[in-house]
Amino acid sequence: MQTKIFKVSKANPNIKKIRECAEIILNGGLVAFPTETVYGLGADALNENAVKKIFKVKGRKYDNPLIVHLANKEDIYKLAKKVPKIAEILIEKYFPGPLTLILKKSKIVPKITTASLNTIAIRMPSHKIANLLIKESCPISAPSANISGKTSPTNALHVINDLNGKIDAIINSGNTDIGLESTVLDLTKTPKILRPGKITYEELKGFLPNLKIHKIAKGIKVKVKAISPGIKYRHYSPKAKMILVEGNKEKIKEKIVELIKKNKGKKVGVLSIFEGNYDAETKFIGKNLSKVAKKLFSALREFDNENIELIIAEGCKEEKIGLAILNRLRKGSSMILKV
Ligand code: TXA
Ligand code: MG
Repeated sequence: MQTKIFKVSKANPNIKKIRECAEIILNGGLVAFPTETVYGLGADALNENAVKKIFKVKGRKYDNPLIVHLANKEDIYKLAKKVPKIAEILIEKYFPGPLTLILKKSKIVPKITTASLNTIAIRMPSHKIANLLIKESCPISAPSANISGKTSPTNALHVINDLNGKIDAIINSGNTDIGLESTVLDLTKTPKILRPGKITYEELKGFLPNLKIHKIAKGIKVKVKAISPGIKYRHYSPKAKMILVEGNKEKIKEKIVELIKKNKGKKVGVLSIFEGNYDAETKFIGKNLSKVAKKLFSALREFDNENIELIIAEGCKEEKIGLAILNRLRKGSSMILKV
């Protein structure tokens, strides 16, 4: 298949190109598009055959449900059976934005979209192009636009590398702003964060005093019965083996210096968020944690392109957006060292 690539400016989107992509979606095709978090791979959420293609193209397991992306708040009431008061408060505060809410689903949503669960994940992206694409078409089911198991794409080149020739179109509008996927919040029982993101636990706790964080949202490999089936699959894996070093900054530095010496002869890359000065191929993606979030996935893809054999990553504190960063780093690592 020839994948059409549309370059669209975020500041001043060309509506004709967006309408052409909306038409593809309405005809049951697949379009990768930018959101404020990562690029999504979109299909008509209510078209079973179209949604099936997403799973095939990504190599995604059918028990891993998709987020439905909307452009109008009214549509939430069509897709969810019940919208509790607290959901309405959070919708008012955070939609459109990088927050996904899990609610009880209505009958119109096909089983394939929600992996036969009786719940649905809903999100309203704030990215202008995503918003226009949905407005010009319909509610769109979209996972991150990567091959399953790889890091989520934060620019169109990442999407092209994974999906060129396999989908109908890709909208290229440069790098995404946030760089990590949305916060996933389950409101169907005791409120629980299933995946941490830019909208943090600390922030949401202000609205939900009994808010919990699912164990797996910390990214630690624990055996749990998955409520969010996606979380049980290996994620964010670079090709190289990755070691994550967590703890006090000085000790992290010492440990990494030691690991570099031990692995002399190997092509070692360091993913640095505060130090940046090692005797190895070092990518300093720091300054502040929002910058780290924005650059994390593309730095991991760069290491792969450079054929790095071992990545050593500096860990951050497990607070605010640091939890979301650690979740992705921990899930991508084959070893976590606490120092
Ligand atoms: O920022 C994002 O959320 C991006 C952009 C494209 O919107 N999308 C994204 O989708 O990251 P995906 O499919 O890569 O991740 C969705 C996560 C998965 O872990 C999935 O298991 C979970 O949301 N999820 C979806 N529906 C669910 C449901 N009904 N109950 C629990 N978890 C659900
Ligand atoms: Mg994904």
